[in-house]
Amino acid sequence: MEIIKAEILGYCFGVRRAVEKAEQALVENTESPVYSLGPLIHNKTTLNRLTKSGMKTAENISEIPEGSAVIIRAHGVPPQVISELEEKKCRIIDATCPRVKASQKIAEKNRDNLIVFTGDAEHGEVKGIAGYGGKNFHLIQNLQDAENLADESDDLRFQKGVLFSQTTFSENEFDKIKKVLGGCFSNLEVLNTICPATKERQDSLLELCSKVDGIVVVGGKQSANTIRLFQTARENCAKAVHIENASELPEEFFELDKIGITAGASTPDEIINEVCEVLNVRSSR
Ligand code: F3S
Repeated sequence: MEIIKAEILGYCFGVRRAVEKAEQALVENTESPVYSLGPLIHNKTTLNRLTKSGMKTAENISEIPEGSAVIIRAHGVPPQVISELEEKKCRIIDATCPRVKASQKIAEKNRDNLIVFTGDAEHGEVKGIAGYGGKNFHLIQNLQDAENLADESDDLRFQKGVLFSQTTFSENEFDKIKKVLGGCFSNLEVLNTICPATKERQDSLLELCSKVDGIVVVGGKQSANTIRLFQTARENCAKAVHIENASELPEEFFELDKIGITAGASTPDEIINEVCEVLNVRSSR
């Protein structure tokens, strides 16, 4: 069996950095507890490993004891959360992805202007950036929201402002929204804040699909970018499967001649390597 990995797969820069910061914090903070505010990444294996090393996960600040070390995950948090942690004398380990940080700065700088932001209301990154934007922050979740804003906002039409987006928002959808709003708001500066990590993984996968008999997509079942990779694999390759780890590999994949491997942006290297190893060992029997 030949196994071909997608040229770009697995951890993105921001997630790798957050995991490394957590590992370092666990080594350095032996005296005080180390908390992650919300799950650090969408990957059970990595979360379990960090939990075994002593990291605790808190759903909200009230669960965190005074003086703890607190890791801010790659999605970032609103400034109010940082203030509350400071009041509790926590040591803040900021693992906000630099790309998210850049978006927070855009929102902060434009607090007095019109801020139109495309993203998912429930996503942690969006809540964080909204906190920096304040009362002028308008969230657009889809094309319909953009059309509603264009219809209802006569008073905002000539106001100076910015349009930008969640780092993982669909480029296609953003382009459509840009067209609708560009036609109505004459003083809206459009900034591209979509992270290339998702597209790079999608493009690498597309390149791989025609070269192999089946694609294995490795990553969390809840991970949005992994689910999107699986959709692409299913549409462009004869066989595709989405697994969280090697134990879920279906029997029929051991019979294939050429297998392609890709993985979501929160899948650690060790799980990808294990999948390749199991495929190699079982197919050579
Ligand atoms: Fe950062 Fe892009 Fe990953 S914004 S967390 S590098 S998907």
